[in-house]
Amino acid sequence: MDEFVTFTYNGKEIKLPVIIGTEGEKAIDISTLRRDTGFITLDPGYANTGSCLSAITYMDGEKGILRYRGIPVEQLAEHATFKETAYLLINGKLPTREQLTRFSVMLNDNSLVHEDLKTFYQNFPRASHPMGILSSMVNALRSFYPELDTFEEEINLTMTRLLAKVRTMAAMSYKISRGHTVVYPRPDLAYCENFLNMMFDTPVKPYELNPAAVKALRVFWILHADHEQNCSTSAVRVVGSARANLYAAISSGISALWGPLHGGANQAVIEMLNDIKANGGDYKKAIAKAKDKTDPFRLMGFGHRVYKTYDPRAKIMKKMCDELLETLQISDPLLDIAKELEEAARKDQYFIDYNLYPNIDFYSGIVLRAIGIPTNMFTVMFAIGRLPGWIAQWKESMDDPNWKICRPRQIYTGHTQEDFIPIQART
Ligand code: CMC
Repeated sequence: MDEFVTFTYNGKEIKLPVIIGTEGEKAIDISTLRRDTGFITLDPGYANTGSCLSAITYMDGEKGILRYRGIPVEQLAEHATFKETAYLLINGKLPTREQLTRFSVMLNDNSLVHEDLKTFYQNFPRASHPMGILSSMVNALRSFYPELDTFEEEINLTMTRLLAKVRTMAAMSYKISRGHTVVYPRPDLAYCENFLNMMFDTPVKPYELNPAAVKALRVFWILHADHEQNCSTSAVRVVGSARANLYAAISSGISALWGPLHGGANQAVIEMLNDIKANGGDYKKAIAKAKDKTDPFRLMGFGHRVYKTYDPRAKIMKKMCDELLETLQISDPLLDIAKELEEAARKDQYFIDYNLYPNIDFYSGIVLRAIGIPTNMFTVMFAIGRLPGWIAQWKESMDDPNWKICRPRQIYTGHTQEDFIPIQART
């Protein structure tokens, strides 16, 4: 039975339809509100605004649930490969053996990047942040791979190119930043193994793949693969809504992800833990600073717009962090500080009252450090993981017959009409 919300304004009854999702989430469809009443809604940060209908990812922030296409992220982290997860997100179903083989062949065939791209990398200033470089380079891909004739072909090939090439480009940027020879992708290596090899293999010291590091990277990427309408995904959808090409849309997603309140938090957490270590391990100061409302500092890796309980991804990440460090026999003082900090914050009334729990970024940096990823590449690692989600969300928006250009309204609070004053009369 159809549900409606009704309210009365100036004696007129306004009736708005209620939209109910498959998990029982409810929304009021306000698409006729302005036409019928002259009102718009105001929701800074869009905390109460649904921007689309989506069948990709389900999150329950109160219960700590995350599912891709209905499958709990815990099961994917346990059993799936990253490639299967990417296929699932983009195509809606896990691939059959044949589909997976075809997908792997396409990824392999597209994994090289144009050699001229190397010169772009060489001309960025040495201190450039890898996220700025990656965002620019992904946008530049459009010039190297111009639009194809049919839309279908263009979409399929562009999605594959991005999944295959961004990984190569990320490793390439690391090698060039170190002044080392670029290592090319190898057809005999799987997705995660190939990336690690491109990052760490050198002509004088062949890289030995460690199954524990491969597993950690696989799980890291699966946990980051999608997170419904977050800041970077919304950026991808907004830019895509103007019918800008997919490279441009993904490039804007990378820029949004760079921010420390979003994907950049994984780097910020390590920097914060390092600061605490440099101050003799006094994590209590960081907690006091985070609670001080006159100080803009926040406890990085804590809090989330949707999760008001423990982030389910953080639970898996924390467990994996312990396992990885034990297997690799690494003792990282930052892990000890992180654990003490978490324990103290979770007992603190401020963090309890605000429902602030560790999010995925709190332990992910320690995992990446253990694999050997440099701190300034952490957010790039997040971006590679999020790529399938961005692509799936962009594709869903393109396939949606009701998708319009994103163009929010505002409530104007500036001057009312004033007359132009000639320059000689201005004070
Ligand atoms: N430390 C201290 N106080 C915090 C924190 C924190 N980490 N997070 C939120 N608060 C406080 C905030 O000061 C505010 O207090 P008040 O209402 O008194 O002004 C209140 O909690 C609500 O904060 P908000 O910024 O309105 O909440 P939000 O939903 O807009 O922000 C967030 C979510 C993730 C941006 C925020 O929790 C934060 O800045 N966390 C630290 C950065 C971080 O770890 N980001 C990674 C998020 S997970 C990865 C991803 O998906 O991007």
